[in-house]
Amino acid sequence: MDKMKLRRQILHARSGLDEKSINEGARSIRETLLDQPWVQMAGLVAAYWSIGQEPRTHGLVFALWKHGATVILPVLRPDKDLDWAVYDGPDSLAPGPYGIMEPVDTRRGVDTIRTAALVLAPALAVDPSNGVRLGRGGGSYDRALARVGPNVPVVALLHEGELIKGVPADPHDVPVRQVATPSGLLTQLG
Ligand SMILES: Nc1ncnc2c1ncn2[C@@H]1O[C@H](COP(=O)(O)OP(=O)(O)O)[C@@H](O)[C@H]1O
Ligand SMILES: [Mg+2]
Repeated sequence: MDKMKLRRQILHARSGLDEKSINEGARSIRETLLDQPWVQMAGLVAAYWSIGQEPRTHGLVFALWKHGATVILPVLRPDKDLDWAVYDGPDSLAPGPYGIMEPVDTRRGVDTIRTAALVLAPALAVDPSNGVRLGRGGGSYDRALARVGPNVPVVALLHEGELIKGVPADPHDVPVRQVATPSGLLTQLG
């Protein structure tokens, strides 16, 4: 299996998802995650603001913030590494380059993710047998996740059908330990 081919296949499947199923999936993922004590206890959460047909994170980010967590969101740098800035409610976001919503807060630096107690990561697919994660092809999260300690939960968010055995892996690919889908949470991968 080739990464580019798998990305195309998943993006094609995602393009067929309707609003209703995306919103239902998002609600289910949000409820599953908010039920976990280790999510409730996380003081600093590195999340992301979903775009397009990604599993939707907007309600989850809002709920984590309401609950009292400090939520940081990525800001894509020109070199494709991820800077981080604090989400402080719906008014704290503005469209950045490419139209992606970004916090208006000051950039805290690429190392900010080192202090996160919980990381939510976007993915196109994850291999359930080893946690290998397929991203959009920029390698941004491989760089960011390399800075996260081994005991920090890293959860990739997926639609149904995106847990795929045999996701191709390169040496730089950083696996995830957990996956949240609308049907539940898969833990202790790899
Ligand atoms: N730690 C890293 N430092 C520098 N560049 C990296 C790093 N990890 C990945 N990359 C770059 O990102 C590119 C895309 O990585 P890939 O794993 O294919 O994308 P994705 O993880 O988004 O699916 C790699 O070819 C590599 O050039
Ligand atoms: Mg990768």
